[in-house]
Amino acid sequence: MNGTPLTDMLARRRPGYALEQAFYTDPDVFRQDMETIFYRDWLFVAPVCELPKPGSYITHQVGAYGVIIVRGQDGVIRAFHNACRHRGSVLCKGSKGTNPKIVCPYHQWTYELDGRLLWARDMGEGFDASQHGLKPVHCREVAGLLYICLAETAPDFDTFAALAEPYLAVHDLSDAKVAYESSIVEHGNWKLVWENNRECYHCGGNHPGLCRSFTDDPTVTGIEEGVSPPHLQAHFDRLEAQGYPSRFRMSEDMQYRLARMPLLPGAKSFTMDLDPATAKRLGRVRDETAGTLLKYHYPTTWNHFLPDHSLVFRVTPLTATTTEVTTKWLVHKDAVEGVDYDLNRLTEVWIGTNDEDRQVVEDNQKGINSPAYEPGPYSPTHETGVIGFVDWYCNTMTRRLDPVVLAAE
Ligand code: FES
Ligand SMILES: [Fe+2]
Repeated sequence: MNGTPLTDMLARRRPGYALEQAFYTDPDVFRQDMETIFYRDWLFVAPVCELPKPGSYITHQVGAYGVIIVRGQDGVIRAFHNACRHRGSVLCKGSKGTNPKIVCPYHQWTYELDGRLLWARDMGEGFDASQHGLKPVHCREVAGLLYICLAETAPDFDTFAALAEPYLAVHDLSDAKVAYESSIVEHGNWKLVWENNRECYHCGGNHPGLCRSFTDDPTVTGIEEGVSPPHLQAHFDRLEAQGYPSRFRMSEDMQYRLARMPLLPGAKSFTMDLDPATAKRLGRVRDETAGTLLKYHYPTTWNHFLPDHSLVFRVTPLTATTTEVTTKWLVHKDAVEGVDYDLNRLTEVWIGTNDEDRQVVEDNQKGINSPAYEPGPYSPTHETGVIGFVDWYCNTMTRRLDPVVLAAE
């Protein structure tokens, strides 16, 4: 970190400008990003439709933490640290599956799906199974989307959930299935992945497929709450009159935002031909011109919810200069591939867009790695969303690294 403490780098950063090199390259800054942001905030993990019945589980790795998310016999979804209470072995090695119980592969300690230890062979007289249940991880659902939090004490989730629930409810995400998923590793710092996502200044030059349906109008991607221009306000009003929450809402600290934005005229979905991608729609949005409900929630997810299908994206930092981006295409659970939708038509725009974004993020990282890199200014017209992200990051880090705040927590 060039010997400069992160708090000093945060204090000297120039608002409206990209961050200095170490923020995007330094392993010690990365470690502090993980400890200060990813190990403390609510993280989107998966759509709830991936856990359809008791015993369904998925696993997820966040930095050093492995997590199991599992649906119990009582239907409740819970999350646990993926580490055995005997000698610590990983419990579930696959990324998803169905198990009647959680059985450790090492010495077969066996846990109920609610985390209780049921069976441990020959542990002696004084052994108390009730003291060796799985360690819980906070887990919450909002309208079909699962979030986890690794902190001992989780920050408030209710304010976000109350705001997001009515926007998401009309998309019936619990009736979904994953039609396709992709995970790519981008050779770029997680903040570069986000900076790229939060502007469409790059769209015209990089996304020929996406630009057929998605506008690069900066008022659509930016963060101007309260001053939506008349054409957007008219769109919000028209859709809200039909019962689809739409207007721009953002948290005060800019950590999350919701807005139902129009696609380009004539576009009904993210397809190359602009028509809906599936004949059996997911959700209750009947207006084909509703566009896309944009949701982002730092630090892990951006989403598109359309009248016919939905897309969820998950950002997982791996190292200072590598980030996994997982995308899931959600369709109605009864939609039949080859009958109601064609998989290639459904996925081609965003598979292409993700790859184009990977390329620009990797080019961005490569340039920043040079000793000649000097932070440049963000466009006040096109990059208000990036400014919002970087401000959220710096403000959050500064607040949480403050020794007074640290001592109080
Ligand atoms: S480490 Fe799990 S049973 Fe021994
Ligand atoms: Fe992009």
